[in-house]
Amino acid sequence: MFINPISYPGNKNKLLSQITAEIPHETEVFVDIFCGSGVVGVNSPAKNIILNDISKQALELLNFFYTENFENIVSKIEDIINKYQLTYTRQQPKGFYIEYNHEGLSKYNKEAYNELKKDYNQDRSVDKLLVLLIYGFNHYIRFNKKGLFNVPVGKVDFSDSIYKALEAFVNHIKTKEICLSNKDFRDETLYADKNALYYFDPPYLITTAPYNQIWTEKEEKELLYILDSLNEQKIKFMLSNVLLSNGKENIMLKEWSKKYLVLPIKRQYRNANYQKINITDTNEVLIKNF
Ligand SMILES: C[S@@+](CC[C@H](N)C(=O)[O-])C[C@H]1O[C@@H](n2cnc3c(N)ncnc32)[C@H](O)[C@@H]1O
Repeated sequence: MFINPISYPGNKNKLLSQITAEIPHETEVFVDIFCGSGVVGVNSPAKNIILNDISKQALELLNFFYTENFENIVSKIEDIINKYQLTYTRQQPKGFYIEYNHEGLSKYNKEAYNELKKDYNQDRSVDKLLVLLIYGFNHYIRFNKKGLFNVPVGKVDFSDSIYKALEAFVNHIKTKEICLSNKDFRDETLYADKNALYYFDPPYLITTAPYNQIWTEKEEKELLYILDSLNEQKIKFMLSNVLLSNGKENIMLKEWSKKYLVLPIKRQYRNANYQKINITDTNEVLIKNF
């Protein structure tokens, strides 16, 4: 499995094997309508993959990974690390930085990171965004109402593990025929290929993530309508979602899903204060029509 080290909130990294196991091997075209970090599409067995998302920045990063070679990406990251004097544990002996459990490297990087964030918000480039995501809190990609990137500094830097994951992802994405698309999921032109398999991982109505504010019952109903219409045309789809999350139930989805195959997906969630790992009452599912 090839994981995008820029792990968006709601990404499917930990569930990948359960989801990709459901994709038939003979699938030629896989369309990831809400692709985010792109991990599901990129790990699908299909050779031709359409990665679509409404977020321009998500696509900009995927385009960077797809078109630039790994050495160039690293050298652009390193230029920024050097310019802003961010920590770079890969190039220092072990123990060079003193890390406190709850703070990690944040105290070393806070000022430089905020400077980089300010510069990025004034003059955007994909390499600056990538460094902000590597060094930012939980690798979140989040913009405020004015469109400004507003994530605080995180605890980690461009570590060996991020380097290796990035290398594997960047090399693997190039083995596929990727078409990047920046459309709203309601755009009919996305559904032109009747033989493709369509995968949907929308924002979830009953959980919280930075992009969930733009997802209401209206969008949810429109999505379910599209899925029914694909089914009527005998076009294959898979939908990731949650039926139950921390006591909240998505009743509309639960009723709708009875027409299709509902597969349980298992994961452990961290609880709200990010300290203990708890198994909550979340009922995560993959719903499919084949
Ligand atoms: C749950 S995340 C997808 C995560 C992805 N599967 C991954 O593993 O990284 C939902 C995505 O839907 C995108 N999105 C939200 N509203 C959308 C819309 N109207 N049309 C297309 N994409 C949308 C968000 O930008 C976000 O990347």
